[in-house]
Order: sequence, then C-alpha cells, then structure tokens
Amino acid sequence: MLNQVGAGVVITGTGSATPEMTLNNHHLERMVETSDEWITARTGIQERRLADAQGSLSSIATLAAQGAIAMAGIAATDLDLIILATSTPDDLFGTAGQIQHHLGASQAVAFDMTAACSGFVFGMVTAAQFIRTGAYKNVLLIGADILSRWVDWSDRGTCILFGDGAGAVVMQAGESDRFLGFELRSDGTQNSALQLAYRAQAKEIVNGVNVAQGNFQPIAMNGKEVYRFAVQKVPEVVEKALFRANLSAEQIDWLLLHQANQRILDAVAQRLNIPTEKVLSNLARYGNTSAASIPLALDEAVRQKKIHPGDIIAAAGFGAGLTWGAAIFRWGR
Ligand code: COA
Repeated sequence: MLNQVGAGVVITGTGSATPEMTLNNHHLERMVETSDEWITARTGIQERRLADAQGSLSSIATLAAQGAIAMAGIAATDLDLIILATSTPDDLFGTAGQIQHHLGASQAVAFDMTAACSGFVFGMVTAAQFIRTGAYKNVLLIGADILSRWVDWSDRGTCILFGDGAGAVVMQAGESDRFLGFELRSDGTQNSALQLAYRAQAKEIVNGVNVAQGNFQPIAMNGKEVYRFAVQKVPEVVEKALFRANLSAEQIDWLLLHQANQRILDAVAQRLNIPTEKVLSNLARYGNTSAASIPLALDEAVRQKKIHPGDIIAAAGFGAGLTWGAAIFRWGR
C-alpha cells in the first residue's frame, strides 16, 4: 500500500565491517596517563578496532555494503542511489564513487554526506525522502568512519573514545511503510565543542595574491559540554520523533543510540523510561565509531536474531555540528 505522501519505505538488509587490529585499554595505559579502570568506569569502552596504513574507508564500507545487499536479496546493479555518511573520506571530493565502482553498482548515483556522528540518522532520513517521492526504489546507505586518522593520540580526553568501522543498510520502496517518524536538529552556536577543523596558512602564490594552504587539525572536544548536550537533547529528539510516529516510548522494542559513552546511553534510556534490556550496546568492543556506530550495532543485533522482523527501533545520533536526530522504524519488510 502506498501512503498518502508516496511510496512506503522498508529497511531490508544490514551489513557491517571493522578492521582487524585491536587497541585495548591496556595499550592506552602505555600511551597516555590513564587506566583501564578509569576508561571502563567513565565510558564503558574496553577496546576498539583501528584501520592500519593499508586500510581504507572505501574497503570497509564496501564490505559492509556487500553484507547489506546480500541480506536484502538484491543485486548491486539494482541500486539506484548510494549515500555514504562519513567525516573521514579517503578523498575529500567524495568516496561514494569508489564504493559504487567496487560494488559494481553501475546504475546508482553516489555521493558523500557529512553530519559527523549524526550522519547515519541524517542519511536514513535523506534516503527515505528519495524513496517517498518515488524518485528511487533501492537505496544503499553506509555509515563509515576512520576517526583514528584524526585523533590526537597524546590527548587522553579524546583518544580513549574513538574506533573505526562501517555499517550499512538497504532501504527500499515497499508496499507497507516502515519508516515511521523522524526529527533532525542542528545548533551551530556550539560548533566549537567538537571539531575536526581546517586551519589555513597563508601562502603567497604571486605578488599580492594569498591563498590558504593548510591542514586539518586533530579532533578537539570539550567532553563535559558534549556530554551535557547529549543527555539533554537526545531524549527530547527521540520523544519528538515518537510523537510524529504516533507512538509512545513503551511501544519501542529497541533503543539504538549512537555508541558514544555507556553513561550517555544509560542516562538517555533512564530519562525516556526505557529498561536496560531494550538498549542496544556494543561500545565495549568498538568504542565510538562515529557514523558507523548505529548501523554496526543494528547489524550485530539483526544477525544475532535479537531484533525480529516488525520490531520497532528508535535510533538516535548526536555529535559534531552540533547535530542530533532520531528516526523511528520497523525492521524488515
Ligand atoms: N584517564 C584518566 N583521567 C582522565 C582521562 C583519562 N583518559 N581523561 C580525563 N581525565 C581526568 C581529567 O583530567 C579530570 O581530572 P581533574 O579532575 O584532575 O581535572 C578528571 O579525569 C575528570 O575529567 P572529566 O572531563 O570531568 O571526566 P568526565 O567524567 O566528563 O569524562 C569523558 C570525560 C570524555 C569520558 C566524558 O566527558 C564524555 O564522554 N563526554 C562525551 C564525549 C563524547 O561522547 N563525544 C563524542 C560525541 S559524538
């Protein structure tokens, strides 16, 4: 059945991939003034996967995508659109094109989009609009990041948090509509709380003509501010998305938050009155994988058959921008 606006949206496949190399809290004890106990108690993170110098974003993203396409039961040539949510492309001009090539998705238009750790949720909403309008039927959405490239490994306030990974979903036009509601927000006034910023250096290329030839600076974060922001704003945005979906928090089967910090997950769930057993968490093993964290946790829970077809999932992302947003959907056809 088509809904009033246009085609229904169904989420039919998930996939994920992480690099093999592991960095645990004891490794970090040898790098900065910290301890396994401190990191575990303050964040819930025990280890994270890191890409090595041969690793690329396009390779882990392609692997995640292949898993999602296979589960959806379509061919790569059936894809109409590929959206890559990332802040860490292999190529600043965009990495989605390389993934399209690796997949052999010759009919798909492909582009990158950036909304940091909110990228996957923002991408889901973007993909849903193309399906709703009838423009595209088969969309591949990938959330992938290699933040280890941009972490200051001497800053104990940030280097303990991040890991690398990729996750993907296939979203398709369907008879039923399983994308139930969303809410997206941005607040640029707080941009400086979390940045991976370009710093220009003037270079005179000819007498009187200065261009900016600089570099991106490592991740800089005010941890306390970001923590406060997440705990306050994420419950609000989940409630707003639930309202739009005409659902209440008790009707959710799974709360799937961006995996930033176990204390943030616990605090948000508590504010929403959602019991711990409904909160998906894999952050102990991967840390914060930015745009990848939601589809990575989703894929694991689907493959473990924790999530069943028809289950209602409230997903919420938050991070740099600042950006935050929630999407409510049912898993499966
Ligand atoms: N090991 C040991 N001590 C550390 C430490 C580390 N890795 N990092 C900071 N500390 C110290 C601080 O220097 C401070 O010491 P002081 O009291 O002597 O000044 C003390 O621990 C407390 O620091 P604080 O920053 O208040 O800790 P916190 O409880 O806020 O935890 C974070 C820090 C980063 C774990 C927490 O703020 C956080 O997770 N914020 C959100 C970050 C996030 O999720 N970002 C990504 C969003 S997408």
